Amino acid sequence: MNENRLAVIVLAAGQGVRMKSTIAKVLHPIAGRPMLAHVLSAAKALDPSRIVVVAAPGAEAVARLSAEWGAETVIQQRQLGTGHAVLQAESALQGFDGTVLVLFGDTPLLTAATLARLVGHAHAAGVAALGFRPADPKGYGRMIVEGNALLRIVEDRDADAAERKVNLCFAGMIAGRVPGVFGLLHEVENRNAQGEFYLTDVIAIARRHELKCMAVEGAEAEMLGVNSRAQLAQAEAAFQTRRRGELMDAGAGLTAPETVFVSADTVIEPDVTIGPFVVFGPGVTVRRGATIHSFSHIEGAMIDENCVVGPFARLRPGAALDPGVHVGNFVEIKNARLEAGVKANHLTYIGDARVGAGSNIGAGTITCNYDGEGKHFTDIGARVFVGSDATLVAPVRIGDGAYIGAGSTITTDVEPDALALGRSRQVNKAGRANEIRARNKTRKDMRKS
Ligand code: UD1
Ligand code: MG
Repeated sequence: MNENRLAVIVLAAGQGVRMKSTIAKVLHPIAGRPMLAHVLSAAKALDPSRIVVVAAPGAEAVARLSAEWGAETVIQQRQLGTGHAVLQAESALQGFDGTVLVLFGDTPLLTAATLARLVGHAHAAGVAALGFRPADPKGYGRMIVEGNALLRIVEDRDADAAERKVNLCFAGMIAGRVPGVFGLLHEVENRNAQGEFYLTDVIAIARRHELKCMAVEGAEAEMLGVNSRAQLAQAEAAFQTRRRGELMDAGAGLTAPETVFVSADTVIEPDVTIGPFVVFGPGVTVRRGATIHSFSHIEGAMIDENCVVGPFARLRPGAALDPGVHVGNFVEIKNARLEAGVKANHLTYIGDARVGAGSNIGAGTITCNYDGEGKHFTDIGARVFVGSDATLVAPVRIGDGAYIGAGSTITTDVEPDALALGRSRQVNKAGRANEIRARNKTRKDMRKS
């Protein structure tokens, strides 16, 4: 037997009835990443030789996500319980000899360090199960122990009053040797409140076979199981708290951390300053020395060193700000690269575009990238000055060093260093203001009489 070989089984086939959702429960996101991906990420950190995800029939999205993480998928045709679910992986792991770690796809907060500890104990005992002491144990299986010897796990619904008082709860992670554990699971019966084959029954069965079972305790912050929308929100809050802490430990400056929302993959380098109420969607990197002011919403964006963003900026997928770019209030950037030192400080939309180094985009500038059918590109060269309220109708190119007069509608390319004016000529009529005032007064008097 090779003590060090590890296979992980992740249960992800449950309907998640309590979520009241058409989306598979394990795909609901925590910090912008599906719960299942959080679990797979923790599993992967243990460097297992196999990861098998148990999915429901038709759950293509679950299979796709699993494949992205290098996991294989097996189908549980009917959701007959967690014990039955684990057995669906038996044939996939035929011939595997080592330790198996069972995880639930709905416990997104667990960490690799805790899992490694559990696996370590499983090497010593026959079976090791992870437990925790939640503030509210309702709904969790209770672990009946003598010292750290685990006697059995009883589900909340099947527990008597005395058992319900036990506050050591099963978190859903269990490790043991295979093929032995599969043998034990075949003995599980479904005589319980839910008529299901419970994974948790494997403990009492293992003890009957005189196998040592052990309870390993972990922190509540890692063990939360998500069965409802409220628990999803609780897990989100716990994850945010943890991740903000990690980012600050790594040198990010968060003025009011409790108001900043990050994604699981948000990268914030040291010496970045983030003001209150900033939201990071998936796919954001913020490099050293950048400042993100309050109320900015950022996703799929690369913000290079020393940029200044916001307040009230919106960066959408494909936004790339080179070093020293300034993006100010009520500016939206999508799929556009702003090269070094570009300034777009007020009330602007830049989509499907490039803005060359050192260019200035005036207030109210809009790239008209969409014609009702397709998207078109706006290419703005370096050192261009775009006056306020310009509309740049794509596809269009503005050459290096060009000037665009304020209020222009630009529909054709502008050569380098040219001045482009796309607006009607101003006419001043001497004294006409007095005539208008007099006319308005007459009308007003007539209405009164
Ligand atoms: C389960 C445990 C409970 C534990 C709690 C921790 C059992 C019987 N109960 O209860 O002791 O305290 O988790 O959060 O194990 N699944 C399948 N196929 C099925 C049923 C479930 O793949 O047929 C998957 C679900 O997708 C989920 C996981 O198994 O990821 C757990 O199922 P769930 O129904 O959430 O169990 P709990 O009631 O939370
Ligand atoms: Mg659950």
